[in-house]
Amino acid sequence: MPEESRKPVLYSAVQPSGTLTIGNYIGALRNFKLLEQDYDCLFCMADLHALTVRQEPAALRRRTAELAALYIACGLDPKKNIIYAQSHVPMHAELAWILNCFTYMGELSRMTQFKDKAAKHADNINAGLFTYPVLMAADILLYQTDVVPVGADQKQHLEICRDIANRFNSIYGDVFRIPEPYISKSAAARIMSLNDPSSKMSKSGEPDSFISVMDTPDDIRRKLRRAVTDSDGEIRVDAENKPGVTNLITICAAMSNRTPEQVCQDLAGQGYGALKDAAAEAVIATLAPIQAEHKRIMADKAYIADVLKDGAERASAIAFKTLRKVYKKVGLYQG
Ligand code: TRP
Repeated sequence: MPEESRKPVLYSAVQPSGTLTIGNYIGALRNFKLLEQDYDCLFCMADLHALTVRQEPAALRRRTAELAALYIACGLDPKKNIIYAQSHVPMHAELAWILNCFTYMGELSRMTQFKDKAAKHADNINAGLFTYPVLMAADILLYQTDVVPVGADQKQHLEICRDIANRFNSIYGDVFRIPEPYISKSAAARIMSLNDPSSKMSKSGEPDSFISVMDTPDDIRRKLRRAVTDSDGEIRVDAENKPGVTNLITICAAMSNRTPEQVCQDLAGQGYGALKDAAAEAVIATLAPIQAEHKRIMADKAYIADVLKDGAERASAIAFKTLRKVYKKVGLYQG
């Protein structure tokens, strides 16, 4: 493709190390399809990053396939987008090594996620956990990425990626494009934990604090019925004083394509039970077709393997160019 007609490159990666929640769906997945027209998108299964904590091998393999299937089930066209597994493109690990030599111990020690994870996995503070942001920088920089959709927890990692790229460019010239954070046009709703609405909904929270995109209708109804509310009894948006109720309204609105105000109007005069039921039915109705499609795709292992193989080939072609330039710049003999 000639350089002038190149669309901006958008790079997104998720670790295949657990289920995705409706928070991930509302904040990211459901919008991916819309990005296709305006960006050249790469969707990476960050399986190498997942190894920084111990994984059960069979589960890691299965989740990688499941994540790819989920992307497709949410409407991503594997022909228009590059969907691939990080470990299938060896240039990620290769560039990460080079970038390790341009990253300081001091800056890595300051990463809040490293400090948090080191505290949580005190028995396994491995070097991979420490250099995690360098591999992430390699992911992004290999593709001359313009934008990266990042949540608040990954902002610092994008910052260090930019620092490393600028440092490298200032020595060797313009080798890497400097990536920017992608801010979604429709300000992403923040989905909170169901039993502690002051913290973000997370797959690593208590089992009943989050809804997985794979949950059954019964699970969804049960979890929402148990969600924390308040004693005031009125259905209205007030994130500060009514975080639980506001969260339920947000979920209900996002999953039924209504505004929070419409949801409040539609439920005016009713109790929290009605709000919870409405939220549950909206979540179930939105997830049902995705789950059905996911199941269908998962049954076709050959198709998933093909998608990932094709994705890896297309990703490799781009990554190879960047890596070769880097090797040349730093003085590795090319023959
Ligand atoms: N660290 C990211 C996360 O846990 C996943 C990730 C790996 C990533 N490589 C990336 C995100 C590159 C954006 C760009 O969410």
